[in-house]
Amino acid sequence: MTRIVAAPDESAAGIREAAELLRKGELVAFPTETVYGLGADGLNPKAAAAIFDAKGRPQDNPLILHIADLKALDPLVTSVPAGAREALAHLWPGPITFIFYRSTLVPDVVTAGGPTVAIRMPQNPIARALIRAAGTPIAAPSANRSGRPSPTTAGDVLEDMDGRIPMILDGGSSSIGVESTVVDLTVTPPVILRPGFHSRVTLEADFPGIEDVTPEAAQVSSDVPKSPGMKYRHYAPKAPLSLYIGPGDAVTARLAKDTEGYRAAEKRVGIMAFDPQIDALQARLDGGVTYASMGPAPTHPAVAQRLFYNMRVLDRAGVDVILAVGVPEEGVGIAVMNRLRKASGGKWLLVE
Ligand code: TXA
Ligand code: MG
Repeated sequence: MTRIVAAPDESAAGIREAAELLRKGELVAFPTETVYGLGADGLNPKAAAAIFDAKGRPQDNPLILHIADLKALDPLVTSVPAGAREALAHLWPGPITFIFYRSTLVPDVVTAGGPTVAIRMPQNPIARALIRAAGTPIAAPSANRSGRPSPTTAGDVLEDMDGRIPMILDGGSSSIGVESTVVDLTVTPPVILRPGFHSRVTLEADFPGIEDVTPEAAQVSSDVPKSPGMKYRHYAPKAPLSLYIGPGDAVTARLAKDTEGYRAAEKRVGIMAFDPQIDALQARLDGGVTYASMGPAPTHPAVAQRLFYNMRVLDRAGVDVILAVGVPEEGVGIAVMNRLRKASGGKWLLVE
C-alpha cells in the first residue's frame, strides 16, 4: 500500500513522517521543481539499492544525491574545481546537477561503482525541507518505472510505484516538468551531459567555454541502456510516439492527413500540439482523437511543464498512437526535443 500524503508547504507534518521513513532506510517519493524524485538515504547503501528494485533500473546507472545547503557538498566530493564555487552559489538551488569526483563517504551503489558522483540542490521548498529533516543527502532518480515518462504529479508517481513504496509526498505539479541539466565538472571545459531548463547559452556566463556532450560520447553514457534494441526508447509512453518537426501550419496539415489515415485503420489517435493547432484539427476532424495541449505557443513554459504529463494522459486515454509536435531547439526547447526524440524511438518526420 502506497499512501499519498499532502505537503502543501514546508511545515507540513507529512515531511517529518517522510524524513523518518528515509532515516529507517525506506523509500519516499517527493516533489522537486523538475520532476518527482524517488528518494532514499543516500549514505545508506541498502536503502539506495532498493531504489533500483523499485524502479526496475539497470544497476549501472548512477543516482543523483540531493542536498539542501552548500556546506553539505564538501563531505561528498574530493574537491570543487577552482572557480566553480561562485557558479554553484549562483545556480543552486535550482534545476541543475553537477558531477564531481566522489569522496569515500558516498556508497558504491549511488555512483554505480564509478569515481564520480552527481549532486543537485533542488529549489522546491518541500524537497529542501525533506532533505533538512532527513539530515542526510537524499539519493533520488526520477520516480518513474525505468523507461517511462518522468512523473510530474503525485498521481503519476502512484501510477508507477503503487505498492512498491510506502509514501508519496504530494507537493502539487512540478513547475518545470523536465529533469535537471546535468553538467560534468570533472572535465575542462565542463560538459553538459543532459540538457534541461539550463542549456549551453544560459550556462556560458557561469562556465565560459562549456560544451554540449557529443552524440558519440552520449551513446556510451550510462543513461543509454546497453541493449541496442532499447537504445532509443526512453521517457516513453506506452503508445508509439511520432514526432512532427516543421512550420506550425504545415505540421497541422500533416497531422490532419495522418490522423485520417489512422482513423481509417480504426486506430485511436492522441495528439500533443499547441492550442491553435488543436483548434484547427478539431474543426477539421470528427472524433476518435484525444488532444493534449502543449500550451498556447512553442516558447511557453507549459511545453516543458506538460511534456511528460501529456504522455501519461494519452496513455491513460488508451490511444494506439501519439502524434507530437516538435518545438524550436532554443532554451528549454532543447531539453524538450531531447526527450521527445528519445520518446519517439527515432521516429521523427520533417514536414515542409
Ligand atoms: O531533475 C532531476 O534530475 C531528477 C530529480 C528527482 O532531481 N532526477 C533525475 O534522476 O532525473 P535520474 O536518475 O532519472 O537521472 C539522472 C541522470 C542519469 O542520466 C544518470 O545517468 C546521470 O544523471 N548521472 C548520475 N550520476 C552520474 C555520474 N556520476 N556521472 C554521469 N552521469 C550521472
Ligand atoms: Mg529518470
